[in-house]
Amino acid sequence: MLLLCSMFSTYSKGLKSTLLIGNSRYLSKAKVTILGIETSCDDTGCAVVDDTGKILGESLYSQNDIHIRYGGVNPLIAYELHRNNIELAVNKAIQSSNLKISNIDAIAVTTKPGMLINLQVGVKYAKYLARKFHKPLIPIHHMEAHALVTRMYQTIAFPFIVLLISGGHCLLAVAKDVDEFLLLGEGLDNAPGEIMDKVARRLKLKNVTEYSLMPGGKAIEVAARKALNPEQFKFPLPLARYRDCNFSFSGLKDSVFRSLTKKESEHGTIGDEIVPEVNDLCAAFQLAVAEHIAHRTERALIFCEKEDLISSHNRTIIVSGGVACNDTIFQSIELIGKKMGYRVYRPPSRLCTDNGVMIAWNGIEKFRKQIDIFSDIDLSDVTPIAPLGKSLVNEVKAAQIPVRVTRLKKHGFT
Ligand code: KG4
Ligand code: ZN
Repeated sequence: MLLLCSMFSTYSKGLKSTLLIGNSRYLSKAKVTILGIETSCDDTGCAVVDDTGKILGESLYSQNDIHIRYGGVNPLIAYELHRNNIELAVNKAIQSSNLKISNIDAIAVTTKPGMLINLQVGVKYAKYLARKFHKPLIPIHHMEAHALVTRMYQTIAFPFIVLLISGGHCLLAVAKDVDEFLLLGEGLDNAPGEIMDKVARRLKLKNVTEYSLMPGGKAIEVAARKALNPEQFKFPLPLARYRDCNFSFSGLKDSVFRSLTKKESEHGTIGDEIVPEVNDLCAAFQLAVAEHIAHRTERALIFCEKEDLISSHNRTIIVSGGVACNDTIFQSIELIGKKMGYRVYRPPSRLCTDNGVMIAWNGIEKFRKQIDIFSDIDLSDVTPIAPLGKSLVNEVKAAQIPVRVTRLKKHGFT
């Protein structure tokens, strides 16, 4: 039977889109290929991925160089650039795959969370392609895509722990299945990447040629490697008295700003000048961010053990999102993982940050399970804020698990 496709207008999972189910043509196919489209923030990313995890074609139009001048993503500029680049990005990914859109089985597109007008650029283009080439659409949750992309490279069975650290989010969760997550902790204020970007800007790192085109977090990491005396700066551990897995970085940012202002007035720094202690400040700040993230992660592991949420045969943590590129932060999670008997993975750097590959791969994961496959996506289903799975945040709080922070310096971190 070639095409046995039932179509239902459905409001399942709150989606006002038309669901396609029981599509035996696709289920019997030897190889499935999916086009992924990502426009939730400042990267127009597209990719064609097959169900063996092979990236057949890829394109990424990053806007980092432009937004770096504004000290953060400017949504209107991002919107214009997405609009200019979306067709180019899709064509480049398709051409480099040596396929035609007609050979592709479905189009996966980020529908949430993110900047609404930017998400809409990707979704409108995906809808246009789906209509023109009669392809099904798969809506993708951006954070779920970050969480699962490592499975493209590594055989990692569910359930596992995910730590998602980026410019917009900070989340700890249990990934139980492709579409089933339990949220353990979340950011209460600024995301770690956001404060790293703000601190980098306040430190004027972009005035240094070496750092001028780097994302703020990366510039801080590179500067921190040159530190000679980071111990001269001490920053308080955020949320030390709250026995939950939530995160807060804004107090840390204020402490760094205060230390910097003090040093600037000591040195009489003016205009574009940078304080001589810049590298030490970056190292001390980065270590404080890492300690806070590791502290919350350790509590999450203990909670999961208590509640029997993770199998003792598959103790795995996946770290993803742009900040996962940071070696000090990743190694601090490896340290906690080792202590608790967990393997820790992250995707390759270029797939930690936003990209189209993770969206296409999430499409493959959903396609294999025949979930969330639609003939159309209603624009009202595109949403800027979308929680990751079912919240256990209050249950974690109620458990009141004491965790002594692991001081990274004692473990050789600088
Ligand atoms: O995941 P992502 O590309 O976009 C969001 O969804 O937010 O993350 C971007 C963030 C930026 O804040 C950037 O400064 C940060 O990731 N980042 C890093 C590093 N590379 C990128 N932060 C720390 N260390 C890095 N090496
Ligand atoms: Zn992201």
